Amino acid sequence: MEISNTATTKEGKYLALLPQLAALIDEKVSVTVNLLNLFSALKETMNWFWVGCYYVSDNKLLLGAFQGPTACTRIDFGKGVCGKSWQKREVICVDDVNKFEGHIACSNLTQSELVLPVIVNDEVKMVIDLDSEQLANFNETDVLYMNKVITIIKNHKLIID
Ligand code: SME
Repeated sequence: MEISNTATTKEGKYLALLPQLAALIDEKVSVTVNLLNLFSALKETMNWFWVGCYYVSDNKLLLGAFQGPTACTRIDFGKGVCGKSWQKREVICVDDVNKFEGHIACSNLTQSELVLPVIVNDEVKMVIDLDSEQLANFNETDVLYMNKVITIIKNHKLIID
């Protein structure tokens, strides 16, 4: 299915994209493939450098579905922006990754990053990581609408475990 989006503002893009994301999900294909499609639509629409998820397994974060350049496959609890988001159970927005102590640079091209935890039954199951080549590319608008994306992910049980 083709994603169409002619909006010019960030909020407009999210508003046009959200119903299309829900329509992309196909119960006949795997959770990972559904996530790949969602992340593809987000990356293409928002022009991000990398978008994907890490899921909690044996007290580590393991790389799940993603779109973009190759990434590190394992992240320890509390390490990097992803491990910190998992530990603190909070969204972490980093305007300049070079100023974030312990940032894990999968690519030197990433300048800013947003990580959101996916919490189910009070447990962090995954984190969603957005990376941009522009400084300070993420803000409250991304947090608001990415939480709506997470609601779609939870409602359709697209949780890797
Ligand atoms: N930068 C992340 C690691 C994951 S990659 O960016 C895809 C971090 O510091 O946790």
